[in-house]
Amino acid sequence: SFQVFRDVPPLRQLRRQLLKNDRSVGFVPTMGALHEGHLSLIREAARENTDIFVSIYVNPTQFGVNEDLSSYPRTWDSDVEKLEKINKELAQIDAEESSGAVTGRITAIFAPTSKVMYPALPPSSEIDGEGSFVTITPLAKKLEGSSRPVFFRGVATVCMKLFNATTPDRVYFGQKDVQQTVIIKRMVQDFHIGTEVRIVETTRESDGLALSSRNVYLGDRRRAVGLTIYRSLKAAEQAYLAGKTSRDDILGAARSIADQVLSEQQALLPAERALFEVDYISLADPDTLDELEIVDPNKGAVLSTAFKM
Ligand code: PAJ
Repeated sequence: SFQVFRDVPPLRQLRRQLLKNDRSVGFVPTMGALHEGHLSLIREAARENTDIFVSIYVNPTQFGVNEDLSSYPRTWDSDVEKLEKINKELAQIDAEESSGAVTGRITAIFAPTSKVMYPALPPSSEIDGEGSFVTITPLAKKLEGSSRPVFFRGVATVCMKLFNATTPDRVYFGQKDVQQTVIIKRMVQDFHIGTEVRIVETTRESDGLALSSRNVYLGDRRRAVGLTIYRSLKAAEQAYLAGKTSRDDILGAARSIADQVLSEQQALLPAERALFEVDYISLADPDTLDELEIVDPNKGAVLSTAFKM
């Protein structure tokens, strides 16, 4: 049902064909290890496009030297199975759909080699080397960017390359990685990229933990502590929905949950606890990510946090 492309020219050929036939392309970039979160982006793309392109590429330039590039889960066979399965599901929906609404299908998987993506980088190099890179400042230095200095340069660079290879009508990103969505929107605007950026809400486990390819790294103890992220964000959101608009009131609600869980953990024996550090809790402007003292309800705000375990 879909073709797998390892290089750009044949993908371009398909893209030209689709353009001639007046079809629309929704693009979902991923690093593989697919889960329901990724699939929700694909389902959303299927509602708005006739054709869906999915990329699977573990992008070396967005990993810092001490990060998990070599251990990042690579699950090609099960990824392809999941994509075949979702195409069947989409065909089913299409067959039952009587209103004439679009139900697109995945028609291309783009799984390029690093030689294709980074011809100027020496093999296995992570961040150093020659070539072209996209930097988006100061957005890329804030929040996640302050402890992961190369991360968003890598993300913006690979997305620029992927967008140019696929020239999609729409691109789909998950709200879980909210700073990534802000940076991609900025990049699309600044470089006049002719695509629409769609943001899809976070898919969570039933207890609230956001699905992530990296959750496989968590044992039971750290998983339980990881849930504190959701509980803290929820507490802050509740404060806002109850009418609070000041930074102290909103972030204070999040911080008190985190502090409480941390002191519970500290009371446990060293062998039984999972300690963590709050890297940041941020309440920021949705476009600039500048920290806010007060939220304007007409504009809203981005609430985000990172814990180090
Ligand atoms: P990856 O972590 O594989 O995520 C691919 C897309 O799926 C991103 O847009 C991400 O926000 C979204 N996603 C992940 N978990 C989700 C969840 N629980 N609910 C909803 N969406 C979720 O993000 C990347 O890859 C890379 O940085 C990439 C953009 C592919 C560039 O290399």
